Amino acid sequence: MPELQRLTPDHAPALLEFERENRAYFARSVPDRGDDYFAQFDARHAALLAEQETGHCHFHLLVDDGEVLGRFNLVDVADGVADLGYRVAERAAGRGLATAGVRQVCDLARDAYGLVRLTASATLANAGSLAVLRRAGFTPVGEVLLDGHPGLRHVRELAG
Ligand SMILES: CC(C)(COP(=O)(O)OP(=O)(O)OC[C@H]1O[C@@H](n2cnc3c(N)ncnc32)[C@H](O)[C@@H]1OP(=O)(O)O)[C@@H](O)C(=O)NCCC(=O)NCCS
Repeated sequence: MPELQRLTPDHAPALLEFERENRAYFARSVPDRGDDYFAQFDARHAALLAEQETGHCHFHLLVDDGEVLGRFNLVDVADGVADLGYRVAERAAGRGLATAGVRQVCDLARDAYGLVRLTASATLANAGSLAVLRRAGFTPVGEVLLDGHPGLRHVRELAG
């Protein structure tokens, strides 16, 4: 049973494997991370953990038997609001893992991190991601350009 875990130093090798294995798949929907990301992965991982320590972001991995199946990140935390981003492994796609993960992160955002609202954006071309946001209770609130591609910005209130 996959489990959502807060990012730790120990996750580095499995997370790198996840990003490597799915690089081409992710690049079909979101900007490629670039070769430097992979070359400097350990330093970047340490930087993410340091940033997480400050409370400005909360990173989570969906882990199944030591393997990373997805990542769900809350970034730009300020004034009770954060922006949500996520990605799920190609071989685990279409099983509802993104929807379940987003719902779980919404609960964590409210109950563990004390947030009141999340924002999230997806391009119009990313029908899967738009479906995930809709099913997890996000409402489209406006148009946005994401690396030059038209998209929709969404909001979900967490109160209650
Ligand atoms: C988008 C992404 C997170 C979806 O993950 P997932 O675990 O497959 O998502 P779920 O199974 O929870 O739900 C996907 C839903 O979208 C639907 N869907 C997927 N691709 C679709 C498409 N091209 N057109 C219409 N619907 C689509 C699926 O059918 C599914 O709905 P269903 O359960 O009613 O059939 C995953 O494909 C991914 O990581 N993509 C690359 C990175 C990315 O795009 N991240 C989001 C950036 S905003």
